[in-house]
Amino acid sequence: MTATKGLEGIVATTSSISSIIDGVLTYRGINIDDLAENASFEEVAYLLWYGKLPNQSELNELLQQLGEYAAVPASVIDSLKLYPKNTNSMAALRTAVSSLALFDEQANDMSQEANIKKAIKIQAQIPTLIAAFARIREGKEPVAPKAGVSIAYNFLYMLNDQEPDQVAVKALDQALVLHADHELNASTFAARVTVATLSDIYSGITSAIGALKGPLHGGANEAVMVMLEEIGSFANVEPYINQKLANKDKIMGFGHRVYKNGDPRAKHLQKMSRELGKLTGNMELYEMSVKIEEIVTGQKGLKPNVDFYSASVYTTLGIPRDLFTPIFAISRASGWTAHILEQYENNRLIRPRAEYTGPVDQKVTPIAQR
Ligand code: ACO
Repeated sequence: MTATKGLEGIVATTSSISSIIDGVLTYRGINIDDLAENASFEEVAYLLWYGKLPNQSELNELLQQLGEYAAVPASVIDSLKLYPKNTNSMAALRTAVSSLALFDEQANDMSQEANIKKAIKIQAQIPTLIAAFARIREGKEPVAPKAGVSIAYNFLYMLNDQEPDQVAVKALDQALVLHADHELNASTFAARVTVATLSDIYSGITSAIGALKGPLHGGANEAVMVMLEEIGSFANVEPYINQKLANKDKIMGFGHRVYKNGDPRAKHLQKMSRELGKLTGNMELYEMSVKIEEIVTGQKGLKPNVDFYSASVYTTLGIPRDLFTPIFAISRASGWTAHILEQYENNRLIRPRAEYTGPVDQKVTPIAQR
């Protein structure tokens, strides 16, 4: 038995949800470029869950369900008020999502009907939890979700307690489409491992949020913004990045386990970053990002991943830095739940082996002699 570090190149399951073939990402066989331009996040979530794009009445029904489920139990909102004010936002989300299960009578109902309902509920409630947490820690009252609006609209509305700008809604919606699913990424794998024990969907999503939090995965978008803030100005990009590369430090938002010739999602976020910069009359973050890309790609051959331009996009939309990874979770909840449903449909316990590298033939030394 020989281990492959990080399971690189290991095919761990079959899946019909999304594919990465020759650097092209598809959801249910539809190119991500097509979806980014022509589908809303709710249409994409439906596609991931049901395997086809919804017709108008199916979409209306989904929007109605999302609206109906978006309110979170009052006890869960109250418990957010007990978290320390400096709680990490992903830790808050992980804890809050786990606690949702306590208030869902169907939490342990393993029927397919109950599980799809819970998938839609989790999708609807994650944005509400994040917006409520963000307001509570600032001493503000949470804002109740609106019915009949998109998730992108509702999130911005609940976060800021005002009607969001249409450009911001469109940009966020497109970002949600681009992050919705990504084959067997670390958090999706964590979700599948958890539910393959026949544990419940809330446990699977809690595992996934924990995995997404790390800076080698979803946490990279926040880490990119930390870097941009540290750099501070266009003039400082070159010395800062050169120093980082000389120190062999990782540049956040670059590189990918699967894509070696570029992440197909990054170009959409780059375009969005440029357009939002133009619209707001502040191109500095975009220009700094382009310069970073030029240096890192030039010197290391590494290309930006989905997280790199997300940082400037979300900042330009006025979103606090530590909500970037939770926004990733809003989107990826659709993919996680689709994968959980797929795992239940054709389940087998996921239990790989380890290559043992420890000592052999050891004996218990009496405690007095240790
Ligand atoms: N900056 C500098 N060097 C890098 C970077 C980077 N961002 N990424 C990879 N490298 C280098 C490594 O140091 C390594 O060099 P070496 O062979 O000289 O030791 C080589 O490229 C291979 O890198 P690994 O870390 O082994 O690649 P792996 O496939 O394990 O990791 C990962 C992929 C985690 C994404 C990595 O590229 C990285 O840490 N990137 C920065 C964090 C990031 O942006 N994560 C988000 C990924 S996308 C997502 O999850 C949504």
